Amino acid sequence: MKTIALLATTLVATAGLYAADVAARITVDASAPGHAVSPLLHGIFFEDINYGADGGLYAELVQNRSFEHAEHFYAYGKVARGEAAGELGIETVEPLNAKNPHYLRMTVRNPDKGFGIANYGYGGIAVKAGENYFFSVRARADAAFTGANGALRAILEDETGRPLGECTCDRLEADWKKFEGTIKSGATATQARLVVLATAAGRVDLDVVSLFPEHTFKNRRNGLRADLAQMLAEMHPAFLRFPGGCIVEGMDLPNRYQWKDTIGDIAERPQNWNRWQDAIRNQTAPQYYQTDGLGFFEYFQLCEDIGAEPLPILNCGMACQFQSKQLVPLAQLDPFVQDALDLIEFANGEVSTNWGARRAALGHPAPFNLKLIGVGNEQWGEQYFERYPIFYKAIKAKYPDIRIVTGAGPGVDGPEFDRWKLAWDKFKSGTPADLVDEHYYRPPQWFLENAGRYDAQDRAGPKIFAGEFAAHDRGRRNSLRAALAEAAFMTGLVRNSDAVAMSSYAPLFAKAGAYQWAPDLIWFDNARVYGSPSYYVQMLFARNRPDVVLPVAIESAGGVGAAGAAAADILSTAPKPLPPLFAVAGRDPRAGELILTVVNPFTEAREAEVAMRGVVRFAPEARATVLTSASADDENTFEAPRKVAPREETFAVSGPVFTHTFAANSLTIIRLKIRE
Ligand code: AHR
Repeated sequence: MKTIALLATTLVATAGLYAADVAARITVDASAPGHAVSPLLHGIFFEDINYGADGGLYAELVQNRSFEHAEHFYAYGKVARGEAAGELGIETVEPLNAKNPHYLRMTVRNPDKGFGIANYGYGGIAVKAGENYFFSVRARADAAFTGANGALRAILEDETGRPLGECTCDRLEADWKKFEGTIKSGATATQARLVVLATAAGRVDLDVVSLFPEHTFKNRRNGLRADLAQMLAEMHPAFLRFPGGCIVEGMDLPNRYQWKDTIGDIAERPQNWNRWQDAIRNQTAPQYYQTDGLGFFEYFQLCEDIGAEPLPILNCGMACQFQSKQLVPLAQLDPFVQDALDLIEFANGEVSTNWGARRAALGHPAPFNLKLIGVGNEQWGEQYFERYPIFYKAIKAKYPDIRIVTGAGPGVDGPEFDRWKLAWDKFKSGTPADLVDEHYYRPPQWFLENAGRYDAQDRAGPKIFAGEFAAHDRGRRNSLRAALAEAAFMTGLVRNSDAVAMSSYAPLFAKAGAYQWAPDLIWFDNARVYGSPSYYVQMLFARNRPDVVLPVAIESAGGVGAAGAAAADILSTAPKPLPPLFAVAGRDPRAGELILTVVNPFTEAREAEVAMRGVVRFAPEARATVLTSASADDENTFEAPRKVAPREETFAVSGPVFTHTFAANSLTIIRLKIRE
């Protein structure tokens, strides 16, 4: 595609000229390739925060499907139409199974035009005209109901009560049985509800009331919301860290994430409360639970579907150290270690093994080829270093090829981090880690000033996993400013990717109006989704990851540099000097291209002289992908989801030295095809 008008003024390449008044000189030495870039460098971190799983990526449309919320009728309402009469109650006698102890009892005295319940989903159910929805329920009934040939009508209604479609389940019995039906929606609605009505008098028990769109990601049953999963696929993530985060630790030990509770029949997965019920900031959500419908099988399957390496994180016998601080005594750690070993067997074991057979029974006899595992989330202190080696030794003894990720606590500087480093130094000669997981949520300025954080990293130590990071701008907004600070920082991750093997932004998802933490990568409601500017930064880095890094020298010219720092509107009163531009370069041999990534986080456009040493000829046309907007304050919204989104450009290049203007507040990725 030829030059797009919007950017034409900023993308001016004057090949062969030697510009005297440029702001910077960028010299790339293509004749001296450096280290290979880690193929795992850019990935995703998923946690069930901000309704990321239930009410989000997990496509279940019914909230509180098993009546296990503390408020058992949460998201439900009673329906009695015409002269209908009866009672609704919650019972625990002879439940569906012990892991799912509560169920709904409908005692119908007069069914008339319909007696039953309505489920309002997660603030409404979004349905589309012409699409199918799979209804299912576990039910049983007494002799009065069955003797009267009673049935259950499952009806989708819009917010005015207009029916959109329905199905019927009949032949209920005295024992629990699963019933299924398909409802085709006759119209599109965002505030629909699912109504389940009994057609006869008598007693009917219901549990696991469920409604799924037929169209899920890859059309899998018990699957994922297609639009949200597609956003992940489009990032081209190298790995997917799961399930947390603080979720792994739990507020206390009983609340911790237990993977064995998350596989198999959804009716047998015990519901856990979500520790993000009590948000640190923003909104609390007392009825926020984890059904674990998006469990470990669905997780491995998603990894496979989007080509990402799985990186499960496991509890290491420690609950959140900011909250309950509960610890499993060392002598009682065995079941936790066994959980780790069993998870590896579940992922990779032959079908003749116990857990390999469980995987096969779930429909995936082939192994998932797990290579990485994390022990603990944000753990620190001696207590962690007492527990971690027990896991390390057991895992390496049985699975020497599995690479282990160690937590590095919640921060990356200050006394806590120094204490962690001391503990680590004492410890590492005995039991090294393969990767160390560092987390940083800092202002944009920190990211700019720390783009060289890993330049002097000890290459002999464990590899770095920048496992959770995000620039927190004023008001914790998903601004372009924050995204560009992350991009500038990420040029340092690529440059040092012999030391930094992996990285992921956090958190991933946020549901508008129901989130506990901001900023986030992807925002959605029940029917819509958009990527933040940070989403596009992550996507562009992943899609333009070179195979080999090339040396880059960036010099200030024309008096920009320290003075340039003052021009950045994100800096505090005492900023550290910044380079005139942030840049990293590399080679993509498969495409036969050089990739130059340049971040200009400053408020004025900057012209640079770009010199490509060691390349004789390029194709005459270069491609540039540019992420920018009129203001660094700009964000994406449901109304303007691509206000800040990448735009493609081409420009003419006739030689290895050219000038190029990098727009104010921009990330630019230039691809130059080599003709040699
Ligand atoms: O990403 C949100 C939280 O930040 C994670 O759960 C935790 O690991 C970190 O403190």
